[in-house]
Amino acid sequence: MTDANAKSVTELVKSGLDRREARWLVEEFGSNDGALQEAARRRRRGEPLQYVIGHWPFRSLDLDVDERVLIPRPESEELVSVALTELLRAEMSEPVIMDLGSGSGAIGLALLDELRTRGVAATLVAVDESLDALALAKRNALKHDLRAVTFVHSSWFDDVDPWLRARVDLIVANPPYVGDEEFAELDPVLRYEPRSAIVSPDSRGVTGFADLEIIIAQATTWLRPGGVLVCEHANTHRDAVVAAARSAGFTDVKDLDDLAGHPRILVARR
Ligand SMILES: C[S@@+](CC[C@H](N)C(=O)[O-])C[C@H]1O[C@@H](n2cnc3c(N)ncnc32)[C@H](O)[C@@H]1O
Repeated sequence: MTDANAKSVTELVKSGLDRREARWLVEEFGSNDGALQEAARRRRRGEPLQYVIGHWPFRSLDLDVDERVLIPRPESEELVSVALTELLRAEMSEPVIMDLGSGSGAIGLALLDELRTRGVAATLVAVDESLDALALAKRNALKHDLRAVTFVHSSWFDDVDPWLRARVDLIVANPPYVGDEEFAELDPVLRYEPRSAIVSPDSRGVTGFADLEIIIAQATTWLRPGGVLVCEHANTHRDAVVAAARSAGFTDVKDLDDLAGHPRILVARR
């Protein structure tokens, strides 16, 4: 770090920023003092660092992120790992993947990229009901030269091409799963993210379960026999997601903990 940048870091720390974050901002904007001061002001007001910087690493990718999309979480990186293992185990040459609620594109695009590295040419159907999110996901696909993607504006499966029925090898989803009342108690920094990406209505007496319920109930129609649904959920949802997957007709159902030891990832095979 140059002397000038070190001085900028010291000034930002004095202005109230955490030292590590001050270093990140200086690395990002250090050559433009106006941009640096504006970024520091946004961060001091409480905006998430990821939005202020405008991009963030997720698995193998550096993704553009802004207030149109959820900031991709480490738990979803674990989901990618689980999904990748399922796909590679099946040794498919050209798998069809569907990413429901694709947001920035994080999960689906990371899978495409990591499969490409392994010489597997997958295709991706990225679905979101937010046109804003789809626009950013498209930008991220172009940024990483991931071309085999169809972007679909749809509420879950409602407007997905019916031709895909029983043809999808893997459905991945990180749907909204936080209840309305829970949301009010969460860290206020989450209020910068789209509420529609986080909050889901309750269903069957289960908090924040409505979107998961739809996805699990309808996924079997779209998966080919042997295809897999890998779906993130709240740590309170294990019983509900396993029961929903069994009643939807999935034959092989398991639910995995995340690295913090919390119930997190449903893996259900048709
Ligand atoms: C928790 S975010 C996940 C974003 C991204 N997959 C990730 O893991 O970072 C949920 C996403 O689902 C989308 N979504 C919410 N309701 C939806 C619906 N009914 N149909 C399709 N997408 C929906 C939101 O717009 C948001 O992008």
